[in-house]
Amino acid sequence: MDPVRNPFAPGAGSQPPELAGRQTIIEDARVAIERAMLCKPSRSQMFLGLRGVGKTVLLNAVDSMARERGHLTSVIEAPENKSLGEQLLPRIHQVLRKLSLADNAKAKAYDAMRALRSFASVFKFEYGDVAIAVEPEVGVADSGDLENDLPELFVRIGEAAKAAGKAWTLLIDEVQYLSQKDLAALIVALHKINQAGLPVLFFGAGLPQVAALSGEAKSYAERLFHYPDVGALPEADAKAAIRQPVNEEGAAIDDDALTEIYQKTRGYPYFLQEWGHQSWNLAAGNTITLDNAKQAEAITLKRLDEGFFKVRFDRLTPKEREYVLAMARLGNGPYRSSDIADALGETAQSLGPRRAQIISKGMIYSPSHGDIAFTVPMFNDYLIRNLATLG
Ligand SMILES: Nc1ncnc2c1ncn2[C@@H]1O[C@H](COP(=O)(O)OP(=O)(O)O)[C@@H](O)[C@H]1O
Ligand SMILES: [Mg+2]
Repeated sequence: MDPVRNPFAPGAGSQPPELAGRQTIIEDARVAIERAMLCKPSRSQMFLGLRGVGKTVLLNAVDSMARERGHLTSVIEAPENKSLGEQLLPRIHQVLRKLSLADNAKAKAYDAMRALRSFASVFKFEYGDVAIAVEPEVGVADSGDLENDLPELFVRIGEAAKAAGKAWTLLIDEVQYLSQKDLAALIVALHKINQAGLPVLFFGAGLPQVAALSGEAKSYAERLFHYPDVGALPEADAKAAIRQPVNEEGAAIDDDALTEIYQKTRGYPYFLQEWGHQSWNLAAGNTITLDNAKQAEAITLKRLDEGFFKVRFDRLTPKEREYVLAMARLGNGPYRSSDIADALGETAQSLGPRRAQIISKGMIYSPSHGDIAFTVPMFNDYLIRNLATLG
């Protein structure tokens, strides 16, 4: 069918034509957002899941919903080598400038701006000294201890938002890349805000290990956050994710074609988008048939290998590659660390640092003690089908 009208959207963070199977998560977010506008406490949420399941897309949906309902929002993708404070600074500055336009909030926004200036100075963030045109407030957010200063800053922002009759929502993607120090300070800040009944909300997204990382940073994180599980779509939702967009374009897809796509993708959103995209392009008439869905396999896998899987593998050192290849040769995960060690003729202990390094790169995680799994769905299949070139 006409590639110009192809509705599918394979790609990191690409808005899908149909956001299937996430109604409960969206509904919970809506309630939290509306409660925050009333200064009622609501729990922050951390979307956890493997790569390509739709966490970024969910954060984007929550961002729009929050803005539509009167929140000011700040979106951050946690970088691997920049501090959280540095990332927050210009965004908070922007939020405070907007809040300062509301007559009722002028004084509070000014207070918060001074706290921000102190914060910027004490942590020597360059941006602050130049751009924030207020005097720093001595004794606020300037101790140099992030776990003290970030909460003070957040409280000031919350007070300014409350005075303006607004709320502030902070959204952070790829939370697993935050340093332990930054994550701990963020958790303390959100805890403080919660206790103070201020209209500040947080939505995060990250790999499954974020739950453990948060718990290690602050033991009460478990009670502070909801951790909605974002996973593969159940069969009915996966099929809807393909059928709806096709129908909306005035075309059709056969049931056995849908079943084929569901079985091959196992309902993983990124794979669904790619498979749908290629099947559409291959259809000769106005209907996607089983044959089209089958023909699409070769090109879909090629596109996924080059666009989705390979970028992850390329980031590993030769030693790390050896480790993940040993995992893949063991079949489907999760894998026992000791089995991987046996396969490599080493001890689990001696492999510990290598394993930790691959975890910090976000390629693998430990779903339970002694176990290890890929953070990318079906990554073992990818490695096995490309053994000749990768191994
Ligand atoms: N609920 C959904 N239904 C259908 N497709 C989805 C859904 N969520 C995400 N997608 C698609 O999956 C792909 C990956 O989404 P993304 O948000 O980047 O995943 P993640 O951030 O978890 O890696 C995108 O192409 C997106 O359009
Ligand atoms: Mg993402």
